[in-house]
Amino acid sequence: MSKKSILSLMRPTGKLHLGHYLGVLTNWVKLQDDNDCYYGVADWHALTTKFDETDTLKQNTTEVLLDWFASGIDPDKSKVYLQSLIPETAMLHIYLSMVTPQNWAERDPTLKDMVKIMKEKGSNEESLSYGLIGYPILMSADILNFDADYVPVGIDQVAHIEITRDIARRFNNIYKTDILKEPRPKLTEIPLLKGMDGNKMGKSFHNDIKISDDEETTTKKIMTAITDRSRLRKTDLGHPDECEVVYPYWKIFGNNEEVNEIKCNCEKGLIGCADCKRCLAKKVNEKMADVREKRKYYENNLSLVNEIIVEGSKKARIKAREVLDKVEKAVRVYR
Ligand code: TRP
Ligand code: SF4
Repeated sequence: MSKKSILSLMRPTGKLHLGHYLGVLTNWVKLQDDNDCYYGVADWHALTTKFDETDTLKQNTTEVLLDWFASGIDPDKSKVYLQSLIPETAMLHIYLSMVTPQNWAERDPTLKDMVKIMKEKGSNEESLSYGLIGYPILMSADILNFDADYVPVGIDQVAHIEITRDIARRFNNIYKTDILKEPRPKLTEIPLLKGMDGNKMGKSFHNDIKISDDEETTTKKIMTAITDRSRLRKTDLGHPDECEVVYPYWKIFGNNEEVNEIKCNCEKGLIGCADCKRCLAKKVNEKMADVREKRKYYENNLSLVNEIIVEGSKKARIKAREVLDKVEKAVRVYR
C-alpha cells in the first residue's frame, strides 16, 4: 500500500509554547514515520493580516523552525518547506480563485472570526485586505498542490478544509477531470493546555511557557500558576480537581505513581502548593531538557536551518510542479 500524504502548515507567529508542542508537534513527529509528510511555514498567510508588520517576519519564521527541529521534526523524513519558496502554490491559488464563488470565502466561519477579532482590536476597513478574503483559497492551494490525503489540524481549521474539498470538487466538475484530490481533516486530540492563569494557553495572554524558555524562566512561570483557590495554608486540605492548572499538568508530565502521590498529599494537606509547583517545574524541565538542548544546537547553526529549508522547499516543489502542470493542462492555458 502506498504511503498516505499528510500536509500541514503553521503561520510564523514566533516562539511556540508547550501547547503547540504537546498538541501539535508531537503528533506531527509521530506521523513522519509511516507517511509522506509535508510541513510548511505559512509566511504568506502571515501577510494576510500582518502585511504592515514585516520587520519580524524572518525572525518569527526562524523561531518556528527552531522549535520544530527541536521537537523532532526531521528533515530527512519529512519535506519541511517555506510557503513563499513554492511559487507553484501562488499560481495554483490564481486558478482556484477563478472557480471559487466569492460568497464561499465570505461565509467561511473561521475567516469571519478572524475579521471580527481584527475589528475588535481596532482594524479599519483598509486593513482588511483582498488577500485576507483569499485566506481560505490560499490554504486550499497549499493543500491541493501536494495531493494531501490528510491534513492534521485543530477543530478551528476544519471549515477551511471543507472549503478546500468544495473547491476541489468544483474545479474537477468544471474542467471534467479528477486531478484534484479531496483532503480530509485529521483532528488532533489536543489535550487543551491551560496557561498559568487558567485561561487557554496563548502568546497574547502572556500566560504561556515557551518551548525555548530556560529552566529558571519555566520555574518562575509555574510558581505563578493558580491552584485550588480555597486553599490558603499548607495544612488546609486540598482539592486536586479544583486545581485548574497544576494538577492537570501533573497528569501530563508525571507518571501514575507521582500523580497519585500528589493527589494523596494534597487531599491530606501534607504538601503545600509552593512545594508542589516546585516539583512540577522540575518535572517539566526534565521532560523538555532534550528538546531544549537540540534547540540550542540549531540556534548555533542557523545556516544549517536555512540550508534545510531551502533543500526541503526544492524537494517539495517537485510535487507542487506535477500538480500544477496537470491543472494548467486541464484549464487549457497556452503552453
Ligand atoms: N490556517 C492555518 C492556521 O492558522 C495555517 C495553514 C495555512 C494551514 N495553510 C495551511 C494548515 C494548510 C493546514 C493546511 O493554523
Ligand atoms: Fe494544586 Fe498541588 Fe496545591 Fe494541590 S498541592 S492544590 S495539586 S498546587
